[in-house]
Amino acid sequence: MSSLKNTSVLAPPWRLLEKKREQMQVFNLEEAFKTDPLRHKKFTFTAANLVVDFSKNMVDEPLLQLLSDLAARAGVPAAIQEMVAGAKVNNTENRAALHSALRSRSHGLAEQQRLVAKLDAEMTALVDKIREGRWTGYTGRVITDIVNIGIGGSDLGPLFVTEALAPYASEKIRSHFVSNVDPSHLHHTLRALSAETTLFIVASKSFSTLETLTNAKLAKNWLLAACDNDNSAIQQHFIGVSSKPEKAVEFGIAAENILPMWDWVGGRYSLWSSIGLPIALAVGNDNFIKLKAGAAAMDEHFVSAPLANNIPVLLAVVGLWYYHFWGAKSYAILPYSHDLRNFPNFLQQLEMESNGKSVDRDGIAVPLPTCPVIWGQAGTNGQHSFHQLLHQGTHFIPVDFILPLAGHYGMHESQRHLVANCLSQSQALMQGKSLETAQLELKHAGASDDDIDRLSPHKVVPGNRPSTIIAMDKLTPECLGALVALYEHKVFVQSVIWGINPFDQWGVELGKQLSGPIFDELGGAAEEKDGTSFDSSTNQFVQRYKNANR
Ligand code: F6P
Repeated sequence: MSSLKNTSVLAPPWRLLEKKREQMQVFNLEEAFKTDPLRHKKFTFTAANLVVDFSKNMVDEPLLQLLSDLAARAGVPAAIQEMVAGAKVNNTENRAALHSALRSRSHGLAEQQRLVAKLDAEMTALVDKIREGRWTGYTGRVITDIVNIGIGGSDLGPLFVTEALAPYASEKIRSHFVSNVDPSHLHHTLRALSAETTLFIVASKSFSTLETLTNAKLAKNWLLAACDNDNSAIQQHFIGVSSKPEKAVEFGIAAENILPMWDWVGGRYSLWSSIGLPIALAVGNDNFIKLKAGAAAMDEHFVSAPLANNIPVLLAVVGLWYYHFWGAKSYAILPYSHDLRNFPNFLQQLEMESNGKSVDRDGIAVPLPTCPVIWGQAGTNGQHSFHQLLHQGTHFIPVDFILPLAGHYGMHESQRHLVANCLSQSQALMQGKSLETAQLELKHAGASDDDIDRLSPHKVVPGNRPSTIIAMDKLTPECLGALVALYEHKVFVQSVIWGINPFDQWGVELGKQLSGPIFDELGGAAEEKDGTSFDSSTNQFVQRYKNANR
């Protein structure tokens, strides 16, 4: 793999891109549509039932060719092959990154394929047993509520996918997700539940994550309090998902109730694995299989399509184009689907925990910044809050609109409004509103000349702001799987061009290390400590905590 530091390889396309950027200073999206009626066709790509329209971006055909050249020179095609073949692309942890092997049977090595097939069979049987009421709680009643206790990759993926596939979910089983160590989260979740019919999944690849273990212990105590401390009840109410089964056993979960995970699946890439158990429990095995089939279709496209038509590659390089050449420091993800409301949260971890790095694969400082800030919210809600900044603010923020065209819930007029709003936001970002139009509108509304002069500058919308529309007919399991795989691969391509390892996350460790001593000090009696253990700011809040908790 090459990287940005390898300037001899990437310098030629980079220089051409700089030149292209200068030429595009005068590029106007609205004009581009007027002069080329086929623009939408040239820049719309389809794969795995997704339609991705890049036409409202600052792109033309020569630019896409240049960006593809950049990806080629960075070694993207070889990197893709290495990853799916099971090479140890996570070089700081000496691991493969084989999330695609969880859904694409030809990926990975024979041993990994065998493990995946075994897990699939085990999980399918378990899901059927619970959904068919053959798994019962300590009083013999069937399970009605699943509580997934996990955080980060052991929470965000299963949570967002379970919400996104709500129309496919069984009405007999309710899903809950507890992640935050803030007791409020567990408290409000358990308040409405009965221990007799609640099944906990303790999902932790490492089985050492503080938040998860703290909540799992509290959940266990809650169960034991309800069943007169009958320890045997734990077997009927706790399932573990972990790559460290011995730790789950130590916690008290029966060995036969622990599903495996492997170090070659990263946490934020793991919803296709045993971490996806709450998804399968909610929507059933068939739909979980369809979710994975959708992802596999995107894998197939990613592995085989030429760079110039490869949608994850295009999404990656167009993002880089804005980041490095247009000064876009953040990137908005706006799903026009309430069911996808937590997709931006999921992507925040996927993109920023993967590519938020300052050194390359060899530990050398990257010469250029990496990874924009990813943020977003479901439309249309955002239109009534932060879209103002997207339209008239001083920041240049590219947007991905995610658009399921048909809904699941009837109420067709509402769905029509939803789609109209998505399309009009993309249009508004592109075309904006000129001063002349603003003045004319005021004039037609009967404003005085003074008011026209005073108000019209406030009504100008600069426009010429880019957006990509990622559409699908309906938010089906297959389309959702393809959508997630699309972004997973986008993140990988960007990491290859930046020359960084997207599969480790050393940066999150420091906070974990520092919180232990502070936790201990918060628990100590005020008089035992002289209040000078940490910096003076931390010390003052340690003291204030003690005062507030007397
Ligand atoms: O703190 C970050 C992190 O390490 C993530 O990468 C991971 O998804 C999350 O914690 C949870 O980890 P685990 O599944 O091991 O509990």
